[in-house]
This record gives sequence, C-alpha cells and structure tokens, in this order.
Amino acid sequence: MIDFISSYLDWSPQKIQKFRQTVLTWYDEEGRDLPWRHSKDPYHIWVSEIMLQQTQVNTVIPYYERFISELPTIQALAQSSEEQLHQLWQGLGYYSRVRNMQVAAKQIMNEYDGIMPTTMKGLLSLKGIGPYTAAAIGSIAFGLVEPAIDGNLMRIVARLFEVEEDIGQAKNRKVFKAILDPLIDPNRPGDFNQALMDIGATVMTPNNYRPENHILKEFDQSYQNGTSHLYPVKRKKTKQTKQEWLAYKIINKEGKVLMRQHQAGELLLGLWHYPLVEVDLLALKNANEAKEAFFYTYLKPDEMVAESVVEEIKQNFKADLDNLTPAIKHVFSHRIWQVGILPVNYENSGQQLLDQLQLSDSSFQWVSEDEINQLALSSLQIKLLDKMNKTSSNDDLRLF
Ligand code: ADE
Repeated sequence: MIDFISSYLDWSPQKIQKFRQTVLTWYDEEGRDLPWRHSKDPYHIWVSEIMLQQTQVNTVIPYYERFISELPTIQALAQSSEEQLHQLWQGLGYYSRVRNMQVAAKQIMNEYDGIMPTTMKGLLSLKGIGPYTAAAIGSIAFGLVEPAIDGNLMRIVARLFEVEEDIGQAKNRKVFKAILDPLIDPNRPGDFNQALMDIGATVMTPNNYRPENHILKEFDQSYQNGTSHLYPVKRKKTKQTKQEWLAYKIINKEGKVLMRQHQAGELLLGLWHYPLVEVDLLALKNANEAKEAFFYTYLKPDEMVAESVVEEIKQNFKADLDNLTPAIKHVFSHRIWQVGILPVNYENSGQQLLDQLQLSDSSFQWVSEDEINQLALSSLQIKLLDKMNKTSSNDDLRLF
C-alpha cells in the first residue's frame, strides 16, 4: 500500500522545488486580495475558514468584516449572545457552524488561557475544527507545514498525478496527504495552501479541463495525457435501499414445513426459502395483518378460488405474531433486508394449501426438517434456520 501511494509522486527534488516556486510566484502576482489575507491573527483566519465552508468568497467578505468588527476577539465571541450570533450569521446558512465556534471559543477561554492553540492536536481538540480547518489555520497563522486538504485541493492533486482513488471516500484522504506532505513549501505553507485554493477556484476549476492560463501545465500529468476530464475520480454512491420482510415458517399437520423456490425475476433465483413477503415489520399490528399479507402475495386471485375454500384455508392458517423472531440483517449489493420469521401452524393437509397457491406446485414443497438441508438453500435461509435454533422465546426485540 505504501509503495502504491508513493508511486504517484515520482518527482526529483529539483522538480518539487520548481513546482513550489511556480505556485508561490503565481500567488504573489495573481493571488486574490482577500480581507483575511491581511491578517495573521489565528482568530481572524478561523472565522474566515468557517465562513468559507460551503459559502462563496464574494458572499463571505461583508459577513467576515462585520463579524470581526463586532466580535474582535475570542473572548468577545465566547461572551456574545445567541441573538447577536444569529444576526451576524443570518444568510450564511448552517447556523450550527457559529454555535460550534462559540463552544470552541469558550473551550479556548477555559482550557487554553484564551489563546488559540498552535499545534494540530490543540486545534483539532476544538469543537467544529476538523483536519481541513486545523491545517488551514495552522499553516496560515502558525506556519505549520500541513496541507489543507479539501475537495478543491483533491481535484488539483488528482489531475496532476492521475490519482485513481475515489475522492468521495474518507479513507482515501491519506493518499492525497501522502502526495502533498513532501510537496508543500516548508517556508510558506500557508501561502502554498492558499495559492492552491486560488488555482482551484480560478484556473483548475471543476469543469475546465484545458485551461488556457494553466500555470501548472508542465506538472499536470492528466493535462499532458488529455485525461483531465477523468479526474478526480468520484464514484456514484449506490444507495442501499432498506427492505423489511417476513419469512413464514409454516408447519402443517404432518410436521412438514413449506419451502418455496425463487423464480425468474426475483432475487436469489433457484434457491429455496421459507416463503417471503415484504412488509413493514414495525407497523405490523396483529397476526391477521401478517396472514393477509401472505395470502395477498401467494394465493391465487380470488375469482379463481371459491370463497368458502379461501375461508377454510385462512381459518386453518394460525399465525403466531407473539413468537415473531428478532429480524436478521441480510445485505445484498444494493439492498439491506431485515427479515423476521413468523411461525405459522397450518391445521390441515399440506396438499390443500398447495392446491391454492399461485405458482406451480413445483415452486412450493412441503418438506420434513431433515429434508430441508437437501434443497439448495441461500445464505439468507441458512441464517434464518440458524436464527430459529438460537432465538429464545422471551426475546421480544423485533428489529436489530
Ligand atoms: N476557501 C477556504 N479558505 C480559503 C482562503 N483562505 N482563501 C480563499 N478561499 C478559501
């Protein structure tokens, strides 16, 4: 893993030096003139960084100036009223950010003698300050050699080095840190970070894959390969949908259990299960609802079955909701199933029920407990069998 990471940065010390120079020279000439850049006060930097999270620079400027003029110190922030904070933040959104800042300001007053901590560890101990904000404040205000890694910086690095790791996954942050740690200028880390923020905002923007004014061209592998549009890699998150199911463990007069083989168009094709029905487990009020859900799913449509026969079948179908097992969790690639097992006694011959079920007889079978293991069972059904063996009768938890 380590070799893999470091293989992205294969530049000579001279090339690294030239990169730093290019970045910083550009910043000195073209960097944006922003109010917080005239200050080295860590409190000012902190306020600006919190405001700049998810809010555009141009929107932030007037808010920043008003905030600093009305609450010029950490102590003033710690002592300000909720109403004043609301007023100063109104329109920026995410009010919890300023509430967290006030909690952190009180922390600084109580734990750090009113002075902003100067180490990464100290900064990270403050409410609302994570690795990005700590690195931004640390590098700009205290000269800590820490890359401030946010989405913009990851985009730049991903393009420069054709980084294949998904920027949407928190665990991949270390890949970017491993590239940036040796790259960041040790003498001007704050300017280096802010230069890259500006390059990300004005040159290497998300949708401009071949910027005309690209000052990092000669360092940009994806630019040279014409692959910039492929970076950063951001895989779509496939949302896992949650579904709740009842597995009906139906036992007939002869002590045989009803099994069903999944058909084309269903998950778990060809494998055998207790008959499954999708229900809202927590909303299940009584045994009758569970029973109706089963018949709605598996009984032949009403017009094909004499009403008296249906009535007889329903009467013989004794669902026992009190002994519903706690649901087990089963994860498919895009689905999470929670499956509870409902014991049912079918107080008639098994054949009567089979005759009325929707699908061909061969997809349902009554089998003895011993025969179950001869069927092709899915891992879900094996879990269900296991659960039946383990659950004690006074275990009344329905969902995990
Ligand atoms: N975005 C976040 N921090 C910033 C900064 N210090 N300057 C410009 N844009 C930023």
